[in-house]
Amino acid sequence: MLKVEGISVGYGAIEVLRDLSFTVPKGKVVALLGGNGAGKTTTMNAIAGLIPLRGGEIYMNGERITRQASHKVFAAGISLVAQSRELFPEMTVRQNLELGVLAQTGVSDVVARVEEIYEMFPRLRERAFNRAASLSGGEQQMLATGRALMARPKLLLLDEPTTGLAPIIVSELQKIIRAVNERGYTVLLVEQNTKMALEVADHVYVLRRGGIALSKPRSEIVDTQEIFDAYLS
Ligand SMILES: Nc1ncnc2c1ncn2[C@@H]1O[C@H](COP(=O)(O)OP(=O)(O)O)[C@@H](O)[C@H]1O
Ligand SMILES: [Mg+2]
Repeated sequence: MLKVEGISVGYGAIEVLRDLSFTVPKGKVVALLGGNGAGKTTTMNAIAGLIPLRGGEIYMNGERITRQASHKVFAAGISLVAQSRELFPEMTVRQNLELGVLAQTGVSDVVARVEEIYEMFPRLRERAFNRAASLSGGEQQMLATGRALMARPKLLLLDEPTTGLAPIIVSELQKIIRAVNERGYTVLLVEQNTKMALEVADHVYVLRRGGIALSKPRSEIVDTQEIFDAYLS
């Protein structure tokens, strides 16, 4: 579904990603792990068309999306849930969800789409008329994810959903990601929380020094030590 081919990205004189390649197959949850500053967010933003590539290509279902504006990437079926979540704190849960389709033209079934999100995340229905700012961290992540799903993307990009969340909420997030995947969505999950990612991912990549230090199906990872070794290699 998503094919990232030898991309290079940097900021000024700093080169963050160097000839980075990986794929995300349809229907799967793929985890991209790496330490703080490894370039995970840079990778997500590059896919979403938010920062320019210095080299390489990105394909979505065979369509070249390299150097496309972010709204074109969105139209190709890729929705990003940013690490910062970017909710509108003074608006209600429901209003935040409705904003998820604002960028799309001709959506006539907003009510049905909101209903779909409530079915996936019943907690959001309970909180529908509360301000986003009043939600717990876990609920805010749920809302940011729900808003991205309002567009019915083919591929959901989740940038460190565990950021700032209490450990007890993390298992709730795993359930959310599973629920999303069971609904047929393909997910690219970026995480620093290795344990969490290993619980939900079908395939694991470790990003290190701007490239892939490890690529393995989850089923072949017998010992998490090899993940940590790849972090440090
Ligand atoms: N806008 C920016 N300008 C300059 N350097 C940046 C910018 N964004 C990120 N970086 C640098 O790029 C590297 C990778 O950052 P990032 O992709 O956010 O890593 P991660 O998400 O894995 O923590 C870091 O060294 C960071 O300081
Ligand atoms: Mg990041």
